[in-house]
Formats: sequence, structure tokens, C-alpha cells
Amino acid sequence: MLDIHAIELAYGRYARFYDVMFGAIFQPGRRAIVKQIDCRPGDRILEVGVGTGLSLPLYPRDVMVTGIDISPDMLNLAQDRKVRNQLDHVLRLSVMDAQDMEFEDSIFDKVVAMYVASVVPNPSLLVDEMRRVCKPSGRIVFVNHFHSRNPVFGSLESLLAPLSKQLGFHPDFSLQQFIDETGLMATNIHSVNMFHFCTMLEASNSKLYYSEDMKHVCAVS
Ligand SMILES: C[S@@+](CC[C@H](N)C(=O)[O-])C[C@H]1O[C@@H](n2cnc3c(N)ncnc32)[C@H](O)[C@@H]1O
Repeated sequence: MLDIHAIELAYGRYARFYDVMFGAIFQPGRRAIVKQIDCRPGDRILEVGVGTGLSLPLYPRDVMVTGIDISPDMLNLAQDRKVRNQLDHVLRLSVMDAQDMEFEDSIFDKVVAMYVASVVPNPSLLVDEMRRVCKPSGRIVFVNHFHSRNPVFGSLESLLAPLSKQLGFHPDFSLQQFIDETGLMATNIHSVNMFHFCTMLEASNSKLYYSEDMKHVCAVS
């Protein structure tokens, strides 16, 4: 099982090499999210698990971006990037647990998680918090690698699963389980990155619930 301490340790180790290892190769997915959320002037955007801030230069300059991450080492690099590239649209970068955020309810227009859902200890808490801080009419978008349906890659990921703590993510993270456990109402799902390795998932800020007779699936915002 991953826990916050293991994640901090893992990303403390990754930080220096992160951009080289996971920068260019996963950048199409980051671009796809920024395009998907259709930024409007003045939008308040929250990026959870912002890491070293590889996505920050992709946002238009007329939005207001807040980034949070649990790893101070990753976040320091995001802060360096902000200063180096004069990213004045990035208003705040803070160390914070995305599963327990200190923001008020319903204050962001768009909330995004790039390659984070398979990293946090409890994806349901992450989604609950993203929904809480997002306006009811807001947009919530994820990009992540999910357990491969390819038998070779899928088996390899299952083999690596016991090493989640050392790796800092769950290699066998299932898309279906993510949707089922979090009650996300996916409005748009499509693959991104080379070889369709990752999936972008947009969800409405509503949660599924079952009617009392358990016959109808309803949405509540
Ligand atoms: C795979 S990296 C992705 C970084 C960045 N989003 C990107 O596109 O490269 C996952 C990030 O999520 C952060 N993270 C993991 N669990 C977290 C949590 N509970 N709260 C906030 N950040 C978390 C990690 O520290 C790490 O920086």
C-alpha cells in the first residue's frame, strides 16, 4: 500500500531526474488536458499533484493557476520554473495533501490531476476533494496510465504491483475500478500519449447514487 510518507520519499528521489524521465514523453497528455478544459480569461484553475510544474507554461496567461503537491522537492522545482519562465499566471504553489485540501468549497472553475490518480493512497478521497473545491458547473479532468489491456503489458504491470511503494505509483491501477469506487460520471474518455499509453477522463462534477429501489442510477451535483 502507498502512504503519504512513501510517496514523499519516492518523489524526493525522483525530483532531480523527473523532467528527463517523465517530461517529454508524457507532455502530450498534459497538453490534451489544458486543451480539454477550454480555459477562459479569469478562470481559477487548480492542479493537484503539480509536481515539477511541467504543465504550467501550457496554460494561457489570462487564467489564475494554483498548484499543490505533497512533495516539497517536486514543488521547489515547480517554483524555480515559475520564476525562470516568469509564469505570473501561477498565483500559488503549496505543499498540501490533495486528499485533504485547505481550500473552501466550490472556488475553482477547473480542477485537474495529471498522472496523480494512481499515485495517491486513496483515489476516492482525492476525487471527493476535487469535487468539493470545484464549482458545481466546473470541470474535472484526469490524465493517467491505467492497467493495460494488452496481455503482455498487463501481466508485467501486475508483476510490478507489489513494488508500488518503491515505485511511487500503482502500475496496475484499473480504470473501471477508479470509476466504480469514486462514482465519477465520465463524460469524455479517450487515449493520449504515444501508443495510447494513457487515458484522459473528463467527469462532470456530479456523483452517481442509486435510488432507494436500487433500480435507477441518478446524478447529484
Ligand atoms: C507522477 S507525478 C505527476 C507530476 C505532474 N502532475 C506531471 O504531470 O508530471 C505525481 C505527483 O503527485 C504528487 N502527489 C502524490 N500524492 C499526493 C497527494 N496526496 N497530494 C498532493 N500531491 C500528491 C507527487 O508528489 C508527485 O509530484
